[in-house]
Amino acid sequence: MTADAATAARFGLALPCGFGTDYAGTVDQVGAGVTGFAVGDRVFGGALSRAVADHVVVEAEGSIAVGGDAHRTPDGVDDRTAAVLSIAGCTAAAALAVVRPGAGDTLLVGGAGGGVGVFVVQLARLAGARVIGTGSAASADALAELGAEPVTYGEGLAERVRALVPDGVTAAVDLYGTEVVQAARALGVPDARITTIAAAVDGITPANGANAAPGALEEIPRTWPRDASSSRSPRPSGSSTCAPPSSSRRAGTSAGRSSSTSSRCGPPCAS
Ligand SMILES: NC(=O)c1ccc[n+]([C@@H]2O[C@H](COP(=O)([O-])OP(=O)(O)OC[C@H]3O[C@@H](n4cnc5c(N)ncnc54)[C@H](OP(=O)(O)O)[C@@H]3O)[C@@H](O)[C@H]2O)c1
Repeated sequence: MTADAATAARFGLALPCGFGTDYAGTVDQVGAGVTGFAVGDRVFGGALSRAVADHVVVEAEGSIAVGGDAHRTPDGVDDRTAAVLSIAGCTAAAALAVVRPGAGDTLLVGGAGGGVGVFVVQLARLAGARVIGTGSAASADALAELGAEPVTYGEGLAERVRALVPDGVTAAVDLYGTEVVQAARALGVPDARITTIAAAVDGITPANGANAAPGALEEIPRTWPRDASSSRSPRPSGSSTCAPPSSSRRAGTSAGRSSSTSSRCGPPCAS
């Protein structure tokens, strides 16, 4: 994180503070009046800047940014995997909610092989869109496995995409900076169908995982093919079943033995 108060303040924090936001673990205490969770339940979620710890307390009716939230960890998903689902999944859902890709769309995704990108690519494919994903040359095979058509980022991006998709791109999500925004505009994509998560661009609606629709994480497995092995999901690592039944969401105060592996700090979605 940071020892610099000004930087912490940009994330809505005051020093001293903890760090890390994604967690996963097992409930070992439940507050009075809490329903929906019991001691021993396996949970994952987000708790802003206090997730890297032995114990994390999350509040009933909380959110990642305020109080923390909890989702039941599906069977077959280990804590290490579950601990990366919350922010990346919510952020991908928030970005896709802006551009709403579907059948007939060609979506350009910048930084497609990153933590957020792997969700965006796969969810957009499941929604029926053709996906072009930017990455380094070394990421090309992984992107192809995810279901994206890889294109190298950097100068000349718009031309490379135009050559790959002569019929044109219809929507774009920039998960890295602004290069994909500029390329998409050059390719004629309207601003209303472009979003960013890591940079602000005049005229473009940014996406923020904190604004993901309630139940966004629950929605992911509902769209996922039952036979995940037949989908384009080379990094399923649990993401095929990454959310709990909706009834378990934010059901109460729980204290979990956290096994968070995330070092990401800051607001879910601070850009
Ligand atoms: N707004 C929000 O709610 C929110 C939430 C989470 C994260 N974020 C921000 O979103 C960004 C992405 O997060 P992440 O967790 O997905 O990051 P990540 O896992 O580190 O992935 C970054 C990706 O960017 C690619 N990349 C590297 N250099 C690039 C370049 N010059 N042009 C285009 N792509 C490049 C990398 O591809 P290669 O490996 O192939 O080089 C990699 O796939 C970060 O800035 C993060 O802080 C925002």
